[in-house]
Amino acid sequence: MTFWKGDAIHPLDESQGHPGAIMVNIILIGAQGSGKGTQAERLAQNLGIHHVSSGDLFRKASEEGTELGRKARLYLDRGELVPDDLTVSMILHYIAESNYMRDGVLLDGFPRTIAQAQALDRGLLSADRHIDCAVYLNVPHEVLLSRLSGRYICRAAQHVYNRETNPPKVPGICDLDGSELYQRPDDQGSAVQKRLNIFFEETIRLLDYYQKQGKLVEVNGNQPIEQVQETLLEVIRHFMAERS
Ligand code: AP5
Ligand code: MG
Repeated sequence: MTFWKGDAIHPLDESQGHPGAIMVNIILIGAQGSGKGTQAERLAQNLGIHHVSSGDLFRKASEEGTELGRKARLYLDRGELVPDDLTVSMILHYIAESNYMRDGVLLDGFPRTIAQAQALDRGLLSADRHIDCAVYLNVPHEVLLSRLSGRYICRAAQHVYNRETNPPKVPGICDLDGSELYQRPDDQGSAVQKRLNIFFEETIRLLDYYQKQGKLVEVNGNQPIEQVQETLLEVIRHFMAERS
């Protein structure tokens, strides 16, 4: 594991916690299947910050049958965005309650609309925090479709696999926690194309939003998983060094 210190990422001595780590708040933007979840898990670990995925939180709430989960499920299964008010309040409460902003956070899949981005900026400002960097994971359309059709995730913690490009050691079983792998309902049928359309018509506008704030960087997500991770670490390190 590593942590931020100045302009470099240093190996972390686990017994020391994260001494001297500087807080960095990052947004990961990318179309469905671009590898946000795959990369975010590794990136958060490498940077010593917390990973928060709005999709994972909605799926967990849905499995637990909470009121939020029941409402969100209607949208998730159809491949539509959950309304902004529900999404913003879930994420801001989650971040505040968990005190994640103290250590730094990697937001995967949030925000997805300009209204969400503005609400996030306001929420952070009120806590004297801000987003440092927004990373766009760019992957060609045809690659996205093929990745989504081969994706499986685990029941226990939503670890991500792919039949072709990232198979588990034992078919149908998560390498990390031994739970069952399943295909997400929104990776089947018309929900796939609907989700991609929403990204390229709506969420893509965030690139302009963060570009104007001087916070946008782009990474080629169409490389092997480990290479994407290395590129992400390098690009984020350079970006933070230039801004400090
Ligand atoms: P969410 O769970 O965020 O889904 P998504 O946006 O559709 O994104 P995905 O999880 O499909 O893609 P990913 O980029 O994480 O790719 P992954 O790493 O899995 O959201 C689900 C739903 O929740 C939304 O549709 C909406 O209803 C709701 N929601 C969530 N956030 C919301 C918000 N802010 N506002 C409103 N509603 C919201 O990788 C995909 C596959 O490719 C995997 O099989 C993986 O193994 C493979 N792979 C990854 N990288 C590579 C690589 N480099 N090479 C080869 N294969 C790779
Ligand atoms: Mg994901």
